[in-house]
Parts: sequence; C-alpha cells; structure tokens
Amino acid sequence: MSKIVKNVEYGLEKIFEDAQDFLPLLGTDYVEFYVGNAKQAAHFYKTAFGFQSLAYAGLETGVKDRASYVLKQGKIRLVLTTALISDSAIGEHVKKHGDGVKVIALWVDDARKAWEETTSRGAKSYMEPTVEKDAHGEVVRSGIYTYGETVHMFVERKNYTGTFLPGYQSWESDYNPTPVGLKFIDHMVGNVGWGEMDTWVKWYEDVMGFVNFLSFDDKTIHTEYSALMSKVMSNGNGRIKFPINEPAKGNKRSQIEEYIDFYEGPGAQHIAVATDNIIETVAQLKARGVEFLSAPPQAYYDEIPERLGEHMEMMKEPIPEIQKLGILVDADEEGYLLQIFTKPIEDRPTLFFEIIQRMGARGFGAGNFKALFESIEREQEKRGTL
Ligand code: FE2
Repeated sequence: MSKIVKNVEYGLEKIFEDAQDFLPLLGTDYVEFYVGNAKQAAHFYKTAFGFQSLAYAGLETGVKDRASYVLKQGKIRLVLTTALISDSAIGEHVKKHGDGVKVIALWVDDARKAWEETTSRGAKSYMEPTVEKDAHGEVVRSGIYTYGETVHMFVERKNYTGTFLPGYQSWESDYNPTPVGLKFIDHMVGNVGWGEMDTWVKWYEDVMGFVNFLSFDDKTIHTEYSALMSKVMSNGNGRIKFPINEPAKGNKRSQIEEYIDFYEGPGAQHIAVATDNIIETVAQLKARGVEFLSAPPQAYYDEIPERLGEHMEMMKEPIPEIQKLGILVDADEEGYLLQIFTKPIEDRPTLFFEIIQRMGARGFGAGNFKALFESIEREQEKRGTL
C-alpha cells in the first residue's frame, strides 16, 4: 500500500467542497507542444502512439509564421507547432527548452471570466480574452502563465461547431494508423526548481482555486541515490489534476534536477494518459517502437500480492503478462492501478508519457515510486547525469 499524506479526505465530493468555484473547468481542451519539426512530430505521434489527423494551420491556410498539426485520440487533442521564420517566440522556446509543452489548455464556459478571476488573483497574463471567428462560429480564448514559460489557455467553445479552432482546416490524411486505446489525460505533472514547490502549490490554490489533496515527501520518494518531493493539486470536480515536483537532496543528482538542467527551467514533466486495457495498449505501443523504462526485477512482481492486499482478488490482469511488458501495479484504499512510463520522447531527457489504467485507485502509484526511480536512475547512469 502507498504511504502518502492525504491532505483532504478522499472523495471528489469532498474535494469539490474544499476547492473554490470561481474557476469552473470542464476538462483539458488541448496540449500544445512547441517543436523543431511539427510535420515529423505529427508523423511520430500518429505512427507510434496511434493519434489521428484532425486539423492543420499553416501557409496553406494563410498562417505565415507557424505550422500547427492537431491530432486526436479518445478525448485527447495534441497540437504540434513549429516556427516558419527565425524571428519567432516559438523558435526561441525550442532553442531554449528543446521540444516541449508550451500550452496546457483548459476547457471553460467563460474564457473572459476565467482570465479576470485568475489575473485579479495574481496570475501573469499571457493573452487577454480574444474572440476568433470563422464560418462555424466563434471561440473565445485567454491565457495566463504558470511555472516557467508554460501557459494555461482558457478555451470557450460553446458557440463553435468547427473541427478545432477558427483558423484551422480539417486535416484529411491517407495515412491513418489504428489508435492504441488512449482515452483521456489523467494528470499532467510539472517540475519546478529547488524550494519552489510550495510557491506553486499556493499559486494553484490562490489563483486557480485548486486543492492540494495528496503529498509525497522525500522520505516516501527516494532511492539509495536520489529523491524528490511532490504535491498533487486538483480542481473542484477532480477532472484536472496537476502534481508538482521539486528535486530533493540525495547522494546523486535527482531526476527532477536533470530535467530542470536540460529543459533549462521548470516545465511539464509527464503527461499521463488513461486506457481501459493497458496490456493491449502497451503491447501495441511497444510494437510501434515506443520505448519504455525497463521492468523492475523479479522481486517486484513476487511482492504484488502483498502490495495489493485485499485488492489482489479483483485483479484481472495475469502477473506474467504485466511482467512481460514491464507494467507496474499499486493499490490504495479504493482499488488498484496499473501504470508504465516511457523513456523521454525527445533527445533531451525531459518530457515523457505515462500510460495508466485505474481500477478504483485514485492515487498516483506511490508504491511504485522506488521501482520507477531505480529504473530512471539506470537511464541517468547511461547518460552520465546521475
Ligand atoms: Fe504520473
């Protein structure tokens, strides 16, 4: 069982009571990456992760300074954007950070109010409320900065029936690899610098009305070599969950410190996507070339019955199958979960993906942290960054 500090009682009803409702969020709208080559990145996410072509903006649609490819799988929308000119904030972002997440967009009913409520509580504005229109109606967007150069955009699309956003055209492709069963974004994790976690926890509380419902300290999250601390922030309806990590002192370099060094600042560390059949999803991803962290040793799988306790009876997935794929299992009071982590998906050791299947559990796999970090440290050792 996970050893975690629960800051509020489990149960979304309780979180809803504690969270403030000045910023109602309907869900994640899209995640936008700034990348060096959006055409090739889009091909990668289609081929390797099974995303489907949805929309496009670029020279052919009258956009002169950038190209954006929009991909979809389940409820997840990814936007891959690259600069077409050298004098570009997109290009500068890629130069400093490498490929990474620029925008975590949130779906709202009222983007003007979302901007007013958050900026009046201290958020730095990224974009004032802006109306965009085309033949399919109008979208209102606004944006604020969060950690580092990362941005939250608020997207109000109740008066819009188009494919994605005004300015984009539908993208019909002859190349449509089958999806792998990715359903929605379960959570997105941010890495911040030394001693900055509580600053950002307070920012999400004060500016966004979130609550801190779980905490993991460096005694929970450590190995022989390195450590980190993490606090999980959630909005009122529990649809948006943002854990925030900071490095902690260990004998060697924390993986969070490695991220901050290579990203050259705070940023999105991983995107956790939900599936309801992790064995099938991970087998597909592996067959398509997605690289995952190596499986923990035999002893980890021998200890699963003990780790799951009473939940072992309801576990449907055969242990030999999850072991073969290197999938991790953890449990909390309410059920169990299965999860696995990719290696970084760009050349810098920065952003990676998590595939997660929740079977009642609402935690984040704290019981797996040690096995996970030992696996990450084996990779850090190879990179000479441990
Ligand atoms: Fe995660």
